[in-house]
Amino acid sequence: MSSGAPRSTWSSRWAFILVTIGSAVGLGNIWRFPYMTGAQGGSAFVLVYLLCVALVGLPLLMAEILIGRRGRGNPVSAMLKVAEENGASSWWGVLGWGGVLGALLILAYYSVVAGWIVEYMYQAIAGVKILTPEAAAQEFAGLMADPLRLIFWHTVFLALTVGVVARGVISGIERASLLMMPALFAILLFLVLWGGMVGNMRAAWHFMFDFKPELLTGQVVLSAMGHAFFSLSLGMGVIMAYGSYLDKHSSIAHNSFWIALADTLVGLLAGLAIFSLTFAHGLEASSGPGLVFHTLPLVFAHMPGGRVVGSLFFLLVLFAAWTSAISLAEPFVAWVTERLGVHRAVAAWGTGFAVWLPGVAVCLSFNDWSGWKLFGLNLFDQLDYLTSRILMPLSGLAVALFAGWIMSRENAQDEIRLPAAQFQLWRQVLRYVTILAIVLVFVYRLMNPDP
Ligand code: PFF
Repeated sequence: MSSGAPRSTWSSRWAFILVTIGSAVGLGNIWRFPYMTGAQGGSAFVLVYLLCVALVGLPLLMAEILIGRRGRGNPVSAMLKVAEENGASSWWGVLGWGGVLGALLILAYYSVVAGWIVEYMYQAIAGVKILTPEAAAQEFAGLMADPLRLIFWHTVFLALTVGVVARGVISGIERASLLMMPALFAILLFLVLWGGMVGNMRAAWHFMFDFKPELLTGQVVLSAMGHAFFSLSLGMGVIMAYGSYLDKHSSIAHNSFWIALADTLVGLLAGLAIFSLTFAHGLEASSGPGLVFHTLPLVFAHMPGGRVVGSLFFLLVLFAAWTSAISLAEPFVAWVTERLGVHRAVAAWGTGFAVWLPGVAVCLSFNDWSGWKLFGLNLFDQLDYLTSRILMPLSGLAVALFAGWIMSRENAQDEIRLPAAQFQLWRQVLRYVTILAIVLVFVYRLMNPDP
């Protein structure tokens, strides 16, 4: 099965927490969460999102770490091993496969969006000023219409990602996160303080936290749950892969709590910083996926110190995206190294190439191939839809079924090692609440097939 080499273990519990926060905190927090909040009724979305993190995200996070650590291997072999240990069918290996391949699909379009970030960071550092909404829209449209520029930045970002993964679990992935995550927190705090000083923090606060029940719709619930999966990196074998490098004595429950809390706080803080600046300039919060690209460059161009703040902002997003992309590549790279005995560097660069090609197709889906649509969606939207709306929740459901119903209680308790009452609480929430929530959202989807 495996190449027999000793498996790496994170240097400490905090290293694991930081690396996993690195996976969780990404474009999802700084690009997707604010624009979804803006587009989906502000506080209603935030409230449901918080509930989803507590009732679906946290229990699943624990379940994935549990399976990864128990199986001590890449997601495919971990699933097989734990299934065997519990007398379950080897079909459960499919769940590992679904995750590993799903993560590569996400990486293909994630890397393209991260490429936009690198371009905007480059422009911010170069001091390019975008002064009117029309110019901002034109700038973004110009980028989308230019396949070569898109492919160039996609290639740069993917090479950065694969370069880290190739160096190994400790000297590559762990070291990158230990360098980037503290910098990310520092920049974020600075931006929030800055937003408090020159922005309209009060309006941002009201927008995000004043609950308006009339804005609560099925669509909001659906998006909030999909986002909880995306933001916590769930269902794609990523957390399993990272959990497999966690040492036996570290507490899964405490670690998961810190990871979920940090991920949520970063989303909320990024939202406050972005909305306070957006509102201070009288701009719209509901501009959708373009929020970070249309609205913020305008804000930076019009504010004192905008060049520095803008550069820092895009650097923050780059760090966030980079550590997440690394985690998306890791499950497949681990599988190739362990199962096929291929050297990690070769596996990583090979994976990079395999992802680069569909990424190029994604770049072309905005311009030369924009006429090619399926169900009215271009390739980019199809991949986003397939992964975050279908694959992630489906495989999250399977993880909950597996850890809640298939794994024996003793087996799970042996890893989770919480006092009996707390263990029982986790298990019951996973077995009933988490599963029911995911199923309800699916049923709702089937009944309301629109976006
Ligand atoms: N959690 C990352 C983000 O919020 O940007 C994205 C992500 C990473 C999704 C890893 C899924 C995954 F497996």
